[in-house]
Amino acid sequence: MGTAIQRLICDLRRKLFYHCVNDYEIFMKQENTILHGDCIDVLKEQLDAHDGEPFADLVFADPPFNIGYAYDKYDDNMEYDHYVDWTYRWMKACKDVLTENGSFWVAIGGDYAAEVRIAARKLGLTMRNWIIWYYTFGQNTKKKFSRSHTHIFYFVKNAKKFTFNDMAIRVPSARQTTYNDKRANSKGKVPDDTWIVRPQELPESFQPDEDTWHIPRVCGTFKERAGFHGCQMPEKVLARIIEAASNPGQLVLDPFSGSGTTVVTAQSLDRRFLGIDLSENYVKYGLQRLEESRDLHDTGS
Ligand SMILES: C[S@@+](CC[C@H](N)C(=O)[O-])C[C@H]1O[C@@H](n2cnc3c(N)ncnc32)[C@H](O)[C@@H]1O
Repeated sequence: MGTAIQRLICDLRRKLFYHCVNDYEIFMKQENTILHGDCIDVLKEQLDAHDGEPFADLVFADPPFNIGYAYDKYDDNMEYDHYVDWTYRWMKACKDVLTENGSFWVAIGGDYAAEVRIAARKLGLTMRNWIIWYYTFGQNTKKKFSRSHTHIFYFVKNAKKFTFNDMAIRVPSARQTTYNDKRANSKGKVPDDTWIVRPQELPESFQPDEDTWHIPRVCGTFKERAGFHGCQMPEKVLARIIEAASNPGQLVLDPFSGSGTTVVTAQSLDRRFLGIDLSENYVKYGLQRLEESRDLHDTGS
């Protein structure tokens, strides 16, 4: 749909309804912001605004896990089949806006990981990795083993052509750090598909008394925590994904923006970005976080 027609429709809607400012925004091509709305609707509108041309080079989605978590607007308690059906529908909406050589990453809990894998297969996506992000600081349990990992799927649309910048994310190998092996590749190695970081791999990130660093969940006391969202992902997880699977200037999309981790990290890595969230509050605070992070970036602090 052409922009002039979109404007006309929106102006008409604006006259009909008492306020339509956000609608006006989503009927136009948007980037470098977070939009308020249901991601399936917003993605359809954005696709129209792009005249049907896919525009996202990398999608990272961290949906609600359907575990009864208390969000601001969303009710995280769907009936199983309903959740599976919804998962397929939002994944399809993401696939529709994904560029031909783009990649699609989904973070999901153990209860529905297999369903995400199946939905991706039905959508014709190719799985490149089924990553386990092992984190510490999970919730303790008494009658079963405590949960300490999240599944992160890495899918692509085109199995032969995609961006994977291995040099941007390599870590020193055990041959280099532990065995002092002359055959070691001096450029290090691509990380394993279980994401645990050891001091040998990132010495500058460790304190003298630490022996492991597992990219923990962002806990209440952490400096990184934005404070308004309980499911904030660590920027280090997003940085690895964005650096590996996109190039500066490309567009990174997060349909479940939450606290804004993806868009903040994309911004600091000089990517274009677009976030979407159902909660007006999360959008408002996410935009503030973006602005604060941009100020830090600009002053080089
Ligand atoms: C697990 S959180 C995302 C956390 C995010 N990765 C971060 O680092 O802060 C899921 C988010 O999806 C949002 N959400 C739920 N249903 C949605 C929908 N249909 N469209 C857009 N956002 C939705 C919720 O409001 C919540 O903020």
